[in-house]
Amino acid sequence: MPCAACHGPDGNATLPGMPSLAGQPVFFTHWQLIKFRDGRRKDPGMSPFAANLSDADMADLAAYYATLPPRGRPQAVDATKAAAGQRLAAANYCTSCHRPDLSGQQQVPRLAGQDLEYLLRLLRAYKAQTAADLDGTMTMAVQPLSEADIENLAHYIAGLAPTP
Ligand code: HEC
Ligand code: HEC
Repeated sequence: MPCAACHGPDGNATLPGMPSLAGQPVFFTHWQLIKFRDGRRKDPGMSPFAANLSDADMADLAAYYATLPPRGRPQAVDATKAAAGQRLAAANYCTSCHRPDLSGQQQVPRLAGQDLEYLLRLLRAYKAQTAADLDGTMTMAVQPLSEADIENLAHYIAGLAPTP
C-alpha cells in the first residue's frame, strides 16, 4: 500500500498539512475511506488511493492504523492561543465527543497531536459548511466559533501530547 508515502511509515505523518492516522478509532478511519471512495469527501491527493479499495481492504487498513502508537510532532504552537483553546474545548463540548484527552472514540476522530495546518483547514471547512461531515454534528459544533476561536483550538489540540 502506498499510504505510507504521505501518512508516514508508522501512520504518523511528517509532511505539513497531512493528517496522521496512527491510533485513530477503527470506525473513524473506515468511514472516512468509504466517504473518499464514494466521492462524498474529496481531495486530489487522497481520493485516487481510496477509489479502488474493497470493503475488506478498508476494514484491514482501519484495524491496522488503530494499532499503531500515535506520536506528537514538532509544531510551532503558541502557548497563549493553546491556553485559550483549552478553555474553549471544554466550553464547547469538544471533549464530550472527542473524549477529555482528545483520543477519539467510535466514529469520532483522535485529535491530540494532529497536524496544525490540517486542523485549521478542517475546522474552517466545517465552519464554512464545505466539509464532508459524516453526520453533521461537527458542522453544528463549530458554528458558534469565531476565526480566533478556531486558531486557539487548533493550537491547543496540535500541542496536546497523544495518549495511547
Ligand atoms: C498522495 C498522498 C496520499 C496518499 C498516498 C494517501 N493519502 Fe490519505 N490523505 C491524504 C491527504 C492530503 C488527506 C487529507 C485530505 C483532506 O484535507 O480532506 C488524507 C486523508 C486521509 C484520511 C482521513 C484522515 C482524517 O484524519 O480525517 C484517511 C483515513 C486516509 N487519508 C487514509 C489513507 C490510506 C489508507 C491510504 C492508502 C490506501 C492513503 N490515505 C493514501 C493524502 C494521501
Ligand atoms: C457531537 C459530537 C462532536 C462534538 C461536540 C465535536 N466533534 Fe469534532 N468531530 C465529531 C465527528 C463525528 C467527527 C468526524 C466527522 C466527519 O466525518 O467529518 C469530528 C471531526 C473533527 C475534526 C476533523 C479531524 C480529522 O482528523 O478529520 C476536528 C478537527 C474536530 N472534530 C474538532 C472538534 C472541536 C475543536 C470541537 C469543539 C469545538 C469538536 N470537534 C466538537 C464529533 C464531534
